[in-house]
Amino acid sequence: MQTNPHIQEQLEAWVQENKGHAVLGTTAQYIPALGKEDPSQLGICMVDDEGNYYCAGDTDKEFTLQSISKALTFIALSCHYGLEFVLERVDVEPTGEAFNSIIPFEIHRPNKPFNPFINAGAITISALLPGQTSQKKYEYLLHFLEELVGHPLELDKEVYDSEWQSSHRNRALAYYLKEAKFLDLEVEEALDIYIRQCAIKVSTKDLALIGLIIAYDGYNPITKVKHFSEEIAQVAKVLMVTCGMYNSSGNFAAHVGIPAKSGVSGGIMAAVPPKLHSQTYEFRAGAGIGVYGPAIDVQGNSAAGTMMLRQISKEWDLSIF
Ligand code: DON
Repeated sequence: MQTNPHIQEQLEAWVQENKGHAVLGTTAQYIPALGKEDPSQLGICMVDDEGNYYCAGDTDKEFTLQSISKALTFIALSCHYGLEFVLERVDVEPTGEAFNSIIPFEIHRPNKPFNPFINAGAITISALLPGQTSQKKYEYLLHFLEELVGHPLELDKEVYDSEWQSSHRNRALAYYLKEAKFLDLEVEEALDIYIRQCAIKVSTKDLALIGLIIAYDGYNPITKVKHFSEEIAQVAKVLMVTCGMYNSSGNFAAHVGIPAKSGVSGGIMAAVPPKLHSQTYEFRAGAGIGVYGPAIDVQGNSAAGTMMLRQISKEWDLSIF
């Protein structure tokens, strides 16, 4: 199939219409290297099952994965040790609290962190990646991600350094995890792998492709390569729907209805499964979406990006519900 000029024009129009929503957020000030980004940027890439890419707005820009890495570490770890191993160490329950909160931990005294998308659960599972050191764990994850996107990826050293220096809350969380015996690794090593995975640079195109693979249950319909099992993809999508947009996951499910994962850099990765009975023609065979809009709202999600996805999902009937 050829690229459809109508889709391209629509995306360009929707980027322009939604750019203004960036004023509802600000760049992530608590990580100074992210705080200085231009908040008015907005870009989107969508890819269909035949490998047609539609990109509009600020899509040349690379940005760091931040919390989007949590979904990918979860998948990589599940591939290596099996889903059962991972789910014995981290639960799949949303918390309704901020992503970096210690409160659910203290109040409920769970026997494992609530889910792998809050920082407590993410630090726990990053520390479990194969390899004796944070460097080896990082290399394992990087290789896994490079296989998915099909090209080499790099660390954004400035963002890594900036987060390492301002990571007081994550350090506190890691000590808490250590005290509660959820962390086998030393605190500084666990923080190192977690902050490194957050600082991997990607483009909206990369996120769109990974989103497509998740939508296709671990299978890349363009290269015909199977990267992970349906079982793992299914739990990843459940986590994306219930916890992917943090404490606005319910709202996102109601108004957008696409499994997605956000990061404080302003990135969103979304997986649109095939919906063959849909009345609309666009993306009936599924798609992957990558969004970049660095002005984030109080929950940590791209303000303009979320509004744009809301419009796209409604117009093209992409909700899974
Ligand atoms: O741990 C942090 O604070 C960041 N490295 C990642 C947080 C994040 O992206 C939450 N997302 N919306």
